[in-house]
Amino acid sequence: MEAFTFHNPTRLIFGKDQLQKLPEEIPETTEKVLVVYGGGSIKKNGLYDKVMAQLKNIGVETVELPGVEPNPKLSTVRKGAEICKKEKVDFVLAVGGGSVIDCTKTISAAARYDGDAWDLVTKKATPDGALPFGTVLTLAATGSEMNGGAVITNWETNEKYGWGYPPYTYPKFSILDPVHTITVPRDQTVYGIVDMMTHILEQYFHASTNAPVQDEMCEGVLRTVIETAPKLLDDLESYEHRETILYAGTIALNGMLQMGYKGDWASHNIEHAVSAVYDIPHAGGLAILFPNWMKYNLDKEPTRFKQLAVKVFDVDPSGKSDKEVALEGIEALRNFWSSIGAPETLSDYEIDDSQFNVIVDRAMKRGAFGNFNELHEEDVEEILTMSK
Ligand code: NZQ
Ligand code: ZN
Repeated sequence: MEAFTFHNPTRLIFGKDQLQKLPEEIPETTEKVLVVYGGGSIKKNGLYDKVMAQLKNIGVETVELPGVEPNPKLSTVRKGAEICKKEKVDFVLAVGGGSVIDCTKTISAAARYDGDAWDLVTKKATPDGALPFGTVLTLAATGSEMNGGAVITNWETNEKYGWGYPPYTYPKFSILDPVHTITVPRDQTVYGIVDMMTHILEQYFHASTNAPVQDEMCEGVLRTVIETAPKLLDDLESYEHRETILYAGTIALNGMLQMGYKGDWASHNIEHAVSAVYDIPHAGGLAILFPNWMKYNLDKEPTRFKQLAVKVFDVDPSGKSDKEVALEGIEALRNFWSSIGAPETLSDYEIDDSQFNVIVDRAMKRGAFGNFNELHEEDVEEILTMSK
């Protein structure tokens, strides 16, 4: 393991009816709250009314930023930061999925920064501070509710980057009630499952030589998600399965699994470049790219892929080479994602190779990447070609 210090300042409030804790979580000195949300799901399922009633009860003023889009746009961040400055907002509340939360994180920092929000996302500048913010999560997927990262897209330049600046970009609190996720439609439920699994897999492919506890934790969460996903998709209103998946999504990317090493994260980098050019769902891109990243990198350390195949996908290793077992594991992952309805190839989104040069350019903007195996331009091109 590498030396590490772990500190996660987000207060996680999990379970049925926990929205009642919202009033006590808003700092007492708060006068005006910016409520940030998406395209309307919280109005349809009644959560908006419940949140607003809670805020009214404690006598804070509210202003709103509706319409945060999936793959949140820089233009929306700018709008939110402007509202905060003009209206003298002193607390921001995200009510939604990862996109709403990421937008909120960036708004909160941009509200305390004199320049353009894009400077923060591109790390040209660092925030001087941030407005405090909290979240009410409505979709199990990104882990953004309990981490310090945010992903923002600039459609003027077709760039999508992750950024973060702890502790400013960590939520003060996040309220997770599985009931709030029950209205998530089937396709978004599938995307969420693929996203959290990929987060675990990105971390599982690390270069550390001694991380048996972390490996077991990753394998355990993966097995649980694989076991629960089909049951949830058969019964989208099951509280129990929503609860399991919601908790898994948070654990997958709140830092618990990644202590003592760096995960690979190359597939995320490539996916962000794909969805900066084509506005596709993040996890749809991952479902296509990740198995191809695995095949492409298999020879780097076949035993690691074999371990995944045996311990997570129950592949029988007897009489087979490490590589054969590893390939069976990759096939099992591909088949599992296909069985729940995730896309398999870029052509499923009508993406051909005509923009591959732009995608590669965007992926390489911050230089070579990948902590398990470092990727360069030609590697990214090959993985995209394998994903056609
Ligand atoms: O906008 P509304 O109307 O709310 O509808 C949303 C949206 O259309 C809907 N939805 C959310 N909760 C719902 C619901 N529909 C019905 N009932 C509910 N309870 O779901 C759709 C997708 O929402 P979105 O927030 O975009 O999904 P997700 O949570 O998957 O977030 C995706 C974004 O997060 C980034 C991705 O790149 C993408 O931009 N990521 C953020 C990460 C982080 N901050 O740590 C890590 C991830 O790897 C990822 O890159
Ligand atoms: Zn992701």
